[in-house]
Amino acid sequence: MQLKTISIALYTLLIFSPSVVFSQDSGLNTNSEDFKGTAIYLTAVEREAVLSEMRGFVESTAGIVKGIADENMEMVTANARKSGKKAGAHMPHTLHKKLPASFKKLGSDTHRRFDELALDAEQLGDVGHALSQLGALLDNCVSCHSLFRIKVR
Ligand code: HEC
Repeated sequence: MQLKTISIALYTLLIFSPSVVFSQDSGLNTNSEDFKGTAIYLTAVEREAVLSEMRGFVESTAGIVKGIADENMEMVTANARKSGKKAGAHMPHTLHKKLPASFKKLGSDTHRRFDELALDAEQLGDVGHALSQLGALLDNCVSCHSLFRIKVR
């Protein structure tokens, strides 16, 4: 089935992409001097809060892709909702002042898109629609990762 093939391809891409994206900071190229984006300076605790949210994003995405592959819209809904607006609510309040406006905008748009995906999955039950929403949502991950790095200070 074609949809299943697409979903599996997307999932495979996601599993491998963080190592591709982040290889700039580890592995071959140990310093990130050639990174042209913006460095955000956070405390170790603040950085961990952001990264923990990121790991939640990957978990949600994995659940959504599996749900789409199995045409299980309840699974799609539940996993998308986990990374919706509510997921950002417990962030340290000190982060608010430190994160650039463009970062916060992309971040909140990402949460909004997860909520929208959840709502549409629930109401429309259309796997093709969910898959295309997920594709657009993943563009947010890609663009933010190309723009920002977190440094501890
Ligand atoms: C608003 C900006 C932004 C968005 C949107 C974003 N990320 Fe990130 N993400 C970051 C930054 C910044 C880092 C840390 C990069 C660094 O300093 O190396 C990061 C790190 C990560 C990491 C590494 C986590 C760890 O434990 O080291 C993963 C995985 C990740 N993001 C996945 C995602 C996924 C999946 C999405 C989309 C659903 C996403 N991110 C959306 C900014 C973002």
